[in-house]
Amino acid sequence: MSAPDKIAAKSPEDLTEVEAGEELARLAAEIAHHDAAYHQHDDPEISDADYDALRRRNEAIEVRFPGLVRDDSPSRRVGAAPSGAFGKVVHRVPMLSLSNAFDDQDVTDFWDRIAKFLSLKPEDEVVVTAEPKIDGLSASLRYEKGRFVQGATRGDGREGEDITENLRTIADIPGRLKGSHVPELFEVRGEVYMAHADFQALNGRQLADGRPPFANPRNAAAGSLRQLDPKITAGRPLHFFAYAWGEVSELPADTQSGVMEAFGQWGFVTNPLFRRCRSAAELLAFYREIGEMRATLGYDIDGVVYKVDRLDWQQRLGFVSRAPRWATAHKFPAEQAVTIVEKIEIQVGRTGALTPVARLTPITVGGVVVSNATLHNEDEIARKDVRIGDSVVIQRAGDVIPQIVSVIIDKRPENSEPYVFPETCPECGSHAVREINPRTGMPDAKRRCTGGLICPAQAVERLRHFVSRNAFDIEGLGEKQIAAFYADGWIHQPADIFHLEEREKPGLQMLRNREGWGETSARNLFKAVNARRHVELDRFIFALGIRHVGETTARLLARRYETLDHLEAEMIAAADRASEAWAALLDIDGIGEVVAEALVDFFAEAHNREVLQALRDAGVDPQPMAAQETGSPIAGKTIVFTGTLERMSRSEAKARAEQMGAKVSGSVSAKTDLVVAGPGAGSKLARAQALGVATITEDEWMEMAAQ
Ligand code: IVH
Repeated sequence: MSAPDKIAAKSPEDLTEVEAGEELARLAAEIAHHDAAYHQHDDPEISDADYDALRRRNEAIEVRFPGLVRDDSPSRRVGAAPSGAFGKVVHRVPMLSLSNAFDDQDVTDFWDRIAKFLSLKPEDEVVVTAEPKIDGLSASLRYEKGRFVQGATRGDGREGEDITENLRTIADIPGRLKGSHVPELFEVRGEVYMAHADFQALNGRQLADGRPPFANPRNAAAGSLRQLDPKITAGRPLHFFAYAWGEVSELPADTQSGVMEAFGQWGFVTNPLFRRCRSAAELLAFYREIGEMRATLGYDIDGVVYKVDRLDWQQRLGFVSRAPRWATAHKFPAEQAVTIVEKIEIQVGRTGALTPVARLTPITVGGVVVSNATLHNEDEIARKDVRIGDSVVIQRAGDVIPQIVSVIIDKRPENSEPYVFPETCPECGSHAVREINPRTGMPDAKRRCTGGLICPAQAVERLRHFVSRNAFDIEGLGEKQIAAFYADGWIHQPADIFHLEEREKPGLQMLRNREGWGETSARNLFKAVNARRHVELDRFIFALGIRHVGETTARLLARRYETLDHLEAEMIAAADRASEAWAALLDIDGIGEVVAEALVDFFAEAHNREVLQALRDAGVDPQPMAAQETGSPIAGKTIVFTGTLERMSRSEAKARAEQMGAKVSGSVSAKTDLVVAGPGAGSKLARAQALGVATITEDEWMEMAAQ
C-alpha cells in the first residue's frame, strides 16, 4: 500500500481498490470543504479549474470502482456547481426528505400511526397513494401565470441553485402549462432522472470521445444538470417525473391523486405505476409487485413512496423534524451475495488510524463487481469473528461500500484461526495502540500508529499540519506543494523544509525550475521559511502534532516550560510517574492525564526526538512566548468568544486574550466572566444574558485588546 500523498499523485487507472476508497474519502471531504467555502462563505479558496479537476478525479475513480461510491460523494450532490454561474434560489417551502420504512412492520406502524394521530374511526375510509421512489435528483419548477420561470436543485433543502436553463431543455418539463385553468403561481416538484438505455448510450459516446464514463444513471443525470452550457444538457437525455409541489397560489384538487391528475393535464409526466391503496396490506402488495418489476422498469428506483391522499389530512399530520408525518419511503433491501474472504489487509489513514479491509473473491452484487469490504475496526472483526478463508454474506445498500453482514459458520474451513489484529503499523513498524478515550474511559475503536512524523502514511498530513496557519504558518507551502515535495523525496520530515534552499546548487534541480514555481515564488518561499526559524514556542509545540495537544495546550506548555530544551528534558523525566516532572506536568491547570501521557509518549519515542534534533540542526530555534500581561482588565478571567469576529480572526482574538492573562473557554457557564459577541451570536449570547454574564461587542473588545 502507498502513502496517501502517493495516492493523490496517482492517476485513477493506477489506483488499487483500497487506495481508491481512501482517495474518494479524501476527495469527498475536500470538495465539501470547497463547496462550503464557495457557497456558504462566498470565499472560494481554489480556482474553478482546480475545483473542476477535483470533481473530475472523483468521477473518474467512481467509474472505475462503482462499488466504492460514497453516500456523501460529491457526484450525488448537484447543488455544488463548479462556478458562480448558478445563482442561489431560496425555497419558500423547504424541500424536505422522507422517513424510511424497511420492513412490513414499519409500514403497518405507519398506517396505524396515521389513524391514531387523526383519531380516525373504523368506518373512515383511508386512502394512501403508492408510487416508485425514483433514484435521481429532485428539482423544483416555478410556474407563474402558467409559464416556467425558474427551476432549482434541492441543494440543502432550504436553498438550491438556479438551473432554469438546463431544466428547460428537458422535454418532460413543459415551458407553459396546458389547460384553461392554471394557478397564478405553482411550484411543481419531482425527480430528474436518466433512463437505463439512455445512460448506456451516453456512456458509449463518452468513451468514444475519450471522456470518462459515468458510474451510474444518477451520476450521469447530476453531471448533465451541472453543465454550465445548457446546450450540453440538451444533448443529454434527461426525464422528469412530477410528484410533489412547493409554494402555490391555489391547489387544483383536495387529494394527492387529484393533484397528480392535474399535473398530467398541465403536461407533466407522472409515474404510470402510481396507485391508490386502502390498507397497509395493499401497500405491501404494491411494494412486492414493484420489487419484482424493478429490474425491467428501465430506470433506477430505490423503493416506493407512500403518501396520505387527503390533503386536509396531510395538513393536520404535518411534519416531524425534516420529514412529513403523512408520507414515508419504503426502501428496497440492500442486495446481498456470498463470497470468500481471501485476506485481511490493514490500511493506515492520514491520521494514523488502522482500518482493516477484507479482500474478497470478486462477486457481482446488484450489478457491481465487489472485491473488498470494510471491516471497520478490530472489535468488529472479533464481534463477527471474521476469519481468513471464511464464506461471508456481503451487501451493498445503495452505492455505499460493501459491508460484511455475517459469516457462514457451516462453511468455515477446519484449520481456520481467529484473526489477530496487528499491534504494529504495517507502514512504518511503529507501535499501534488503542488509546483510552478521555470522555468515556473506554479504549478507542481504532488502533493508531504512534509513528507520527516518521510514518509514511501520515507524513503528508503531519507536514501539512506543521506548516499550517496556526503552526509554522509558512506562506507558499500548502498541502499541494507538500504532497509534491514529499512524492519527489524533497521533504520527508519537518527539518527538510529548512534545507530546501540548500538544494539550490548546480547539479540539482532548482525549485524555480519545478512545475508551478518560478524565480519569484521560489525566492518568496525561502524568505518565508527563513523567517520562521525563530517561531514562537507555542506554535512550535502545536506544529508537532502530538495527540491531544491543540493550540491551547501548546500555549500552556510554552508558558510553563519556556524553552524547547526545558520542555523536552521535563517530558523525558516525566516518563517516571514517581518523578517531580510528572507531578509538575499534571499540576498545570488545563492538563489532565490523557494529555500528559500523550506528551510523555511522544518524547519517549526516539524517532520523535530525532525529528526535534534535526530541526535544531537546521537552525530552528523556537522563542519564548511574549510575556503575559498581569495588569490587564481580563487577567485571570474566563472569556468566551461567540458569533463572527470581523476585525480579528478567532485564533488571534484567543491568543490576544490569553496574552492578556485570560482563560479562553468554548462554552458559557456560571464561571464565565465575559462574553465577546460578534454579529450572528446565538445561543451562547442568550445563555450569557440568562446567566447575567457581562457581554461586550467586538468593537469594545478591540478597544480592550489594544490596551
Ligand atoms: S415525495 C415532502 N415522491 O426521495 C416529501 N419523493 O427521501 C416530498 N423521491 O428528496 C418527496 N421519488 O428526491 C417523493 N415519488 C417520490 C419520490 C421522491 C424519489 C426522492 C426525492 C426526495 C427523497 C426523499
